Amino acid sequence: MTLRKIETLVRDYDNTDELSESYKMLITKAKDALERAYVPYSKFHVGAAVLLENGEIITATNQENAAYPSGLCAERVAIFYANSLYPNVAVSAIAVTAAPEMKQISQPVPPCGGCRQVLLETETRFQKPITIILAGEHKISVLESAKSLLPMHFDEAFLDS
Ligand code: THU
Repeated sequence: MTLRKIETLVRDYDNTDELSESYKMLITKAKDALERAYVPYSKFHVGAAVLLENGEIITATNQENAAYPSGLCAERVAIFYANSLYPNVAVSAIAVTAAPEMKQISQPVPPCGGCRQVLLETETRFQKPITIILAGEHKISVLESAKSLLPMHFDEAFLDS
């Protein structure tokens, strides 16, 4: 048996002061999107804002459904929408924020497993790391890539092996 340690670097901030203007803007856009979430069942609003390499910002929210599994998380709506509008443009960063009952959550909310896998696919597709910005009201966590969110991942490389 060998023991393997996998480390993930997370940068935590108490406020946005140390963040670049473009990341501050991305967080603002994700927060602005919150009220557009369609969440009649969970009342858990999630907003996401994606920054593309061409400077475009795409915002999205979670979309629920009476048939629960047919709904989709904000991160996936945002990434799929961005990739549909600009299939040849890499994603540089995504900011995510959440507000149960529209009350901004104080801690950063980490993306679910399915969203991590979709972020990873886009990162692999464009061969460019996606900065992940998880914004709570009193804490912001920044990770340098989708891979760091999902260190042991399945990707296209296994399909060819
Ligand atoms: N949700 C997201 O939009 N993103 C996540 O990463 C976690 C969960 C949504 C799905 C559902 O609409 C609601 O939050 C409660 O799970």
